[in-house]
Amino acid sequence: MKLVSNSRGAWPQSMTFGQHFHRYGIVGRSRAITQVIRRIELVAAARSTVLITGETGTGKELVARAVHNGSAQQPMPFVKVNCAAIPETLLESELFGHVKGAFTDATATKRGKFALANLGSIFLDEIGTMSVGLQAKLLRVLQEREIEPLGAERAEHVDVRVIAATNRDLRRLVGDGRFQDDLFYRLNVIPIVVPPLRERLDDIPMLVEYFVDKHATQNGKRIDALEEGVVASLREHHWPGNVRELENTIERAVVLTTGAVITREAVSVEGALRVPTAVPSLKLRENVEWAECATIRRALEISTAKQQAARLMGISPRALSYYLAKYPFIDPGRTHRDNVIAAPDRADVRGIDKVSPEAEPVEDEIAAIEHDRLTV
Ligand SMILES: Nc1ncnc2c1ncn2[C@@H]1O[C@H](COP(=O)(O)OP(=O)(O)OP(=O)(O)O)[C@@H](O)[C@H]1O
Ligand SMILES: [Mg+2]
Repeated sequence: MKLVSNSRGAWPQSMTFGQHFHRYGIVGRSRAITQVIRRIELVAAARSTVLITGETGTGKELVARAVHNGSAQQPMPFVKVNCAAIPETLLESELFGHVKGAFTDATATKRGKFALANLGSIFLDEIGTMSVGLQAKLLRVLQEREIEPLGAERAEHVDVRVIAATNRDLRRLVGDGRFQDDLFYRLNVIPIVVPPLRERLDDIPMLVEYFVDKHATQNGKRIDALEEGVVASLREHHWPGNVRELENTIERAVVLTTGAVITREAVSVEGALRVPTAVPSLKLRENVEWAECATIRRALEISTAKQQAARLMGISPRALSYYLAKYPFIDPGRTHRDNVIAAPDRADVRGIDKVSPEAEPVEDEIAAIEHDRLTV
């Protein structure tokens, strides 16, 4: 099916749905993404540890899978561990396993993810959230290539390629004493930096085509064309949530479009971030809180779940719960425009010190956010 615009220039006429240029599932042909793909191909063959960094939604997980799939270990397991999603107390046993009776709930022996990934790759996602204590244990595993399941008498040899990812600035965490420098150097053997979407705008047409096709198929819709100016307007956006945000924008447009043409209105991201030209007041604290509210509302609007919104904002789901308790007038269930576009009133942000007692403050993380705010 040819994708033809209703007027010239909206879409290169030669492009057709279903012929997306991608390698390893990574759609795009900009210089920046081509360099990333080249680097993946160079490092895939080696067994060296890879550290993937980049903002949220840039495609770090796709890159991690590509490193594994491009390697000789491709038939062997690729095991993912999201270090931010597993409570700290369980993460050690999740990674290294435990023997029956090692702790109260250890009713059976359990193999850890390192053992499951043996001869393949382990993907340690969101490594920047790992506690310093566990970092020390991970460092030992990387140095000695041995794991010690909790309660076990003997260590086990493992041959696993480690691929780690983070959207945090690990060097800064090292500087702040929150990430072990030795571990950082061990992980950062081969760095791959995935650039933000705003630095590879040339990928937008191809990504849009890919996501239109994907979501039209999933929703049983037929989309023939994009209105003139759709791609141009998407190129103007800042994309803080990167490719994930672009995909969500296109999915929403496909779902809400009734005809066969996606209009500029349907992909409108105008007002999405609504940065005020005039700040609500000159009180710095009030403005910071205003910006927090606007950001949280925006993240909720472009996400399908609270966890995803937290990820977009680079905070943990628990920190998001803290903020939702701090700003109880934000309704996470109302994820649509009216919840987002309206900037919070100054009245809204008054009295916000009264955080509800159910919200468990995530002290370290919140303190880190506050600290970053003071040091930027
Ligand atoms: N170049 C791309 N081509 C196609 N899809 C992409 C591309 N980059 C990202 N995506 C899609 O965007 C979404 C986000 O990508 P991914 O989960 O890899 O991001 P991430 O960098 O790991 O984000 P986070 O830091 O929030 O975990 C996924 O659905 C992924 O398939
Ligand atoms: Mg990820």
